[in-house]
Amino acid sequence: MKNIAVFASGFGSNFEAILEAAEQGQLQAHIALLVVDKPACFAVERAQRHNVPVFAFNPKDYSSKEEYETLIVNQLEEYKIDLIALAGYMRLVGNVLLQHYEGKIINIHPALLPAFPGTHAIEKAYDYGVKIFGITIHYVDAGMDTGKIIAQDCFKMKEGESVDEVEARIHQLEHQLYPKILNQLVNH
Ligand code: GRF
Repeated sequence: MKNIAVFASGFGSNFEAILEAAEQGQLQAHIALLVVDKPACFAVERAQRHNVPVFAFNPKDYSSKEEYETLIVNQLEEYKIDLIALAGYMRLVGNVLLQHYEGKIINIHPALLPAFPGTHAIEKAYDYGVKIFGITIHYVDAGMDTGKIIAQDCFKMKEGESVDEVEARIHQLEHQLYPKILNQLVNH
């Protein structure tokens, strides 16, 4: 079975969906490690509940991205990680990680890329007046949400739907699609 590391910075609902899919056998992989850049984030609590080891670091403790990414790579090698799934990891991936895990880092984004890359994508799309919302799973490269697209899914906004309602539907879609695609990637 392949080993997956999930990277998160916050709430970790996608991480939870990935864990549950793995526990239920829909995702045939071992969720071997959680990496967070915010040691107090809620994703850490989820990892503890599911007995997943955590590597938590604070970027401010290091002089460069290269320095902390070298530590991350050490951890990934120790846990024999085959695939990295970014799930709300609010940081651009740098050269060190990209060189060691080229083609093995995946991200989920809450918009139909290439529209609305970067942060606050759902609000930006909503404020723009978008009527079809969606999500994108893509390979990670050095850019901001610019890597090759692997999968997308979408839905039509309902008349008068609020941004919160749209957001909830987007997360629901993410929680279904991400584990499914990860399973395809590790078991193709
Ligand atoms: C998700 O909407 C994901 O698409 C984006 O960040 C959010 C993370 O949410 N990259 P959560 O931490 O998984 O709940």
